[in-house]
Amino acid sequence: MDYLHIVGGHKLEGKVTISGAKNAALPLIAATIIAKNSVQISNLPNVQDIKTLLKLLYNLGATYTYNQNSSVQIDTTPISSTKATYDIVRTMRASILVLGPLLARFGQCEVSLPGGCAIGQRPIDLHLKALKQMGANISIKSGYVYAEAKKGLQGATIVFDKITVTGTENIIMAAALAKGKTTIINAAKEPEVVQLCEILHQSGVEISGIGGDEIVIHGTAGELLEIKPFSVIPDRIEAGTYLCAGAITQSTITLEKVIPAHLESILIKLQQMGFGILVKNSTITIKPARNIQPIEIITSEYPGFPTDMQAQFMALALLAEGTSIIEERLFENRFMHVAELRRFGANIQLKGNIATIIGPTQLYGADVMATDLRASSALVLAALAAQGASNIHRIYHLDRGYENLENKLNALGAKVTRLQEH
Ligand code: UD1
Repeated sequence: MDYLHIVGGHKLEGKVTISGAKNAALPLIAATIIAKNSVQISNLPNVQDIKTLLKLLYNLGATYTYNQNSSVQIDTTPISSTKATYDIVRTMRASILVLGPLLARFGQCEVSLPGGCAIGQRPIDLHLKALKQMGANISIKSGYVYAEAKKGLQGATIVFDKITVTGTENIIMAAALAKGKTTIINAAKEPEVVQLCEILHQSGVEISGIGGDEIVIHGTAGELLEIKPFSVIPDRIEAGTYLCAGAITQSTITLEKVIPAHLESILIKLQQMGFGILVKNSTITIKPARNIQPIEIITSEYPGFPTDMQAQFMALALLAEGTSIIEERLFENRFMHVAELRRFGANIQLKGNIATIIGPTQLYGADVMATDLRASSALVLAALAAQGASNIHRIYHLDRGYENLENKLNALGAKVTRLQEH
């Protein structure tokens, strides 16, 4: 197993190119299941979660080849199995994204139930309820979701009781091939959902309300789509993490290949903390703060402050001159990084879903353990700012979602080495 050895206290400088968005690429790869052609996807991030989903499709019978420039060609026409097995789904919850498209194309499928994970229970009841409304028979047996719609899915009006990103995406893909009109009320508005809608729209599916909380989809009644080559949008969470790396080391760095509009809530919080932000076309430059101000954050759905940036901002708040408050509203157990941040010297009080961070803190290098993807990046950030050396263990969590992390950080002047546990 790999770990990262980080010698902290070094300023960063220069430019970093942001990769394609993992969370946009995952539903788009799943959408190739409803294509009649071989689909070319570029700007694909080279991260473990993407490899996992491609492996899942391969196990179903699809083929894929990597080309140059982070692009992949996926052919799902040879799919012969409709069973997404436990061994893959347990390593990545987002595997549930194949449920909608498999059911829509084949009229039946079996997908292993994703279990709970480090950040909470994360049920899929809303996905299943919506598919039932579209005419699917759903049962759960031996840890698998059995879904059947022999005569095809039927358009319906779906009201999501809670905003769900992958739930919305699953239903959008199912609705694209259903008979008639599907209206999704209280849909997720994340840029990754928007890109999925846009690609399906370009592939001939009639979709309106894209980017809003009510999406209307007219399905093709089973006809597969012709999906043209496209490029995945930049990863706003990777971008936000690098902005925090610049901030926590009080450095000036520039991010390239980003869509600044996707990062609005993050940029506003950084400005409120005193950091300079310069946006120019597809670049963002962050500059040091004179004094780092404490912050109040409540996580919410897009366009609110993303839960996927909560841990990184907690690391940053450790250096703020005063008390910051972070409230986690989306996941019930997303404070696993708190205990690890305390190992660097952090003074954080936890009460339910509210963390109070008392700064400023002098951080000292420590041995810490990553618990989930975004929590791990908070530990890397704290290590960059800490005096002395740190070791971040269990970095397979980081490898799920950050392309080339140590090389990108080292190119900016950080001192990060990937080593192997004995
Ligand atoms: C997606 C993102 C993840 C991000 C999260 C919230 C992907 C691959 N992952 O996860 O990085 O942290 O959005 O922005 O895009 N819920 C239910 N029942 C359901 C579905 C969800 O109760 O059927 C609850 C969840 O437990 C959670 C909330 O709804 O409390 C939001 O979850 P959801 O938006 O579904 O998260 P994911 O799509 O799994």
